[in-house]
Amino acid sequence: MQPTRRPANPCFSSGPCAKRPGWSAAALSAALVGRSHRSAAGLAQCREVIDRSRAVLQIPADYRVGIVPASDTGAVEMALWSLLGARGVDLLSWENFSETWVDDVVNHLRLGDIRHLAAPYGRIADLSAVSPERDVVFVWNGTTSGVRVPNGDWISDARRGLTICDATSAAFAMRLPWPKLDVVTWSWQKALGGEAAHGMIALSPRAVERLESYIPPWPLPKLFRMAAQGKLIEGIFRGETINTPSMLCIEDALDSLKWAESVGGLDGCVARAEANLALVADWVEQAPWVAFLAEDPATRSCTSPCLAIADPWFAALPHETRFTLSRRMLARLEAEGVGYDLATHRASPPGIRIWTGATIERADLEALLPWLDWAWQQERDAAKAG
Ligand SMILES: Cc1ncc(COP(=O)(O)O)c(C=O)c1O
Repeated sequence: MQPTRRPANPCFSSGPCAKRPGWSAAALSAALVGRSHRSAAGLAQCREVIDRSRAVLQIPADYRVGIVPASDTGAVEMALWSLLGARGVDLLSWENFSETWVDDVVNHLRLGDIRHLAAPYGRIADLSAVSPERDVVFVWNGTTSGVRVPNGDWISDARRGLTICDATSAAFAMRLPWPKLDVVTWSWQKALGGEAAHGMIALSPRAVERLESYIPPWPLPKLFRMAAQGKLIEGIFRGETINTPSMLCIEDALDSLKWAESVGGLDGCVARAEANLALVADWVEQAPWVAFLAEDPATRSCTSPCLAIADPWFAALPHETRFTLSRRMLARLEAEGVGYDLATHRASPPGIRIWTGATIERADLEALLPWLDWAWQQERDAAKAG
């Protein structure tokens, strides 16, 4: 039976993610468009983004927080290029983005002392193998497999290496153990539904110490430079961005942060995302045709749960056929206007990925799930008949 109830907002993309409930372009009417980001008013807005981000994310006072170019990718790259090479490095990967960072370090930075700890989609790398003597690069939430780090207990408080954590789909939805993390990156386009192309980076005092004491042997483009002549460029962390940000995006980031505050800050955002995951888990329990890709429930992402199609008939089909059928099934939802962008990443096993972060309303998710059952039945029947 075709469901009758439709999500009020059909946006379930894992990035750019759904705008906060109630958002309209009117929220940007006070944006400082046409003004310099270096004017007193412009700078004050950049600083406000930093201050509100710090407050909502509960970032310790001695960490530097800055707005950087090129979204989360820019933030991760500037950390890798600026900090790595001083020590051996452990690279953790279990999905597309973590594999991207491995590729960067192995094939582009070409560091000598690398250990690559990998796991396939659905599992997580062996966290217990990480050495406190070495730097480590990892994603907190693997957006393309829906597998997240369960906690930070595996990170030593007495470590000598730096922990570089890509938290773009974790920030504002999961609790990050700040004292365990030396570099944390995220982008506005993710959990608060902000606009793309701007990233943020938080640095622990130990990360700053590395920046001020280590000069990498390779050239650093201006976009990556956080230190000059052995000193941190403090202005970046006071809102003096490396290059020109969009004042429209700044206004939107402020709007999203104020919304996060209005739902109870980090506690409220985490609770909304976890409740959404619980709703998906209840549905998966009674939908025999789907299963979480994440094998261990402790690693199930509360922002980007990925679901494999578990029907034995489907599972026995060749990869290309599964890919085509799953995309066709999800195209039915798009055509009905009830669910957009629900396909797993092209590098992941074919299936469904539902963004369940804080900006997703529970009622919209409740309305979506029966449509998934409907689309699967339609697609399966059509494929078997055809
Ligand atoms: C874990 C992770 N890292 C990096 C990225 C790239 O983010 P951006 O496009 O904001 O640079 C994404 C995007 O989905 C991601 O999920």
